[in-house]
Formats: sequence, structure tokens, C-alpha cells
Amino acid sequence: MKVFAPLVFTGLLCACAPPAPAPATTEVAGPSDIEIGRYLIRIGGCNDCHTPGYLQADGKLPESQWLTGNPVGFRGPWGVTYASNLRLTTQTVSEDDWVAMLAHRSDAPPMPWPITRAMSSGNHRSLYRYIRSLRPAGPPAPQRLAPGERPSTPVIDMVPVAPDAP
Ligand code: HEC
Repeated sequence: MKVFAPLVFTGLLCACAPPAPAPATTEVAGPSDIEIGRYLIRIGGCNDCHTPGYLQADGKLPESQWLTGNPVGFRGPWGVTYASNLRLTTQTVSEDDWVAMLAHRSDAPPMPWPITRAMSSGNHRSLYRYIRSLRPAGPPAPQRLAPGERPSTPVIDMVPVAPDAP
């Protein structure tokens, strides 16, 4: 009989313990900021634009080349935008300014600002700490151009075209 006493006691404790508090927000969790940040970059598609050649290499590029910015522009009615070198951004912008930017910024396509606005500020911080841990690398991306300005780099045209005539 004595053997079961601790089990009964444990059962009582569980019954009386308050329920675990609900998480304050929905966010990605992981063992460290670095692991969370790396995971968010991979599933957020950030390398697709911010890492030259990433899609062409089917994602098989070393992390040392990640997020170094793209010299190929995206041209549309907004002008031409170039996916920034985030390895440099995280050296020049403070962590708090990064969190504010990802929480509030709306801007020209094709940067998916709705994705970063939907993330928790904890996940914004993990992104920042991960990207910063990669250290600075690569040149700054070219300057954004206003509508009508002539690019001196290759661009991807992002305007719908009518289907070919039959
Ligand atoms: C479809 C292409 C595309 C994808 C995918 C993308 N970005 Fe961008 N991103 C851009 C472009 C283009 C710019 C430059 C915007 C501008 O000049 O206004 C940019 C700018 C940014 C900036 C501003 C940097 C600065 O120095 O001002 C941040 C931060 C950023 N992206 C983070 C991310 C993160 C994090 C992800 C993944 C969740 C991501 N981006 C996915 C295209 C993309």
C-alpha cells in the first residue's frame, strides 16, 4: 500500500495545479534565437529574393552566402526595387528599430511586408539576432529607382502581359 502513496500524492498535485497560461501570442518557438531565426528565414522564403541564385540552386547554397542582397531589380509601376543586403542592414539598424520596421512597414512590391508584419516581436528579434550572427558580407544592393528612372542593372519585369493571340 505504501508503494502507491507517492502516485496518489502526485495525482492530487496535478488536479490542483492551475492550468498553464495561454501563450501571449502565436509564434515560432525553438531552442535558441539562432535556430528560430534560421528556421523563419527558410520557411519565410526570404532567401528567394535576398540571396542571389538561391532559387536557381534549389536552396542548396551555404549560409555564408545567405541574405547578401540582390543586384537584379524588380521593375513595376513603383519603379525598381532591389532586395536589400540584410547582412548589412542588421549591422546598421538597432534591434529595436528592426522590430519596429518589421511590425509597421508597408512599401513597394515585391517585399512581402504582410508576412513580416504578421510575425510576433519575439520572432522579429530572433530574425535580427540570427542574421546579425552571420556577420556582414557582400556589397549593398543597388539604390531603389523611382518610376521612369533607367536601371543600369538587369531587372525582372513584374507587369502582367496579355496572353499570346491564338
Ligand atoms: C519576393 C521578394 C522578396 C522576398 C520573398 C522577401 N523580400 Fe525582403 N525585400 C525585398 C525587396 C525588393 C526589398 C527592398 C524594398 C525597397 O527598396 O523598398 C526588401 C526589403 C527588405 C527589408 C528592408 C531592409 C532595409 O535595409 O531597408 C527587410 C528587413 C526585409 N526585406 C526582410 C525580409 C524578410 C525577413 C523576408 C522573409 C520573411 C523577406 N524580406 C522576403 C524583396 C523580398
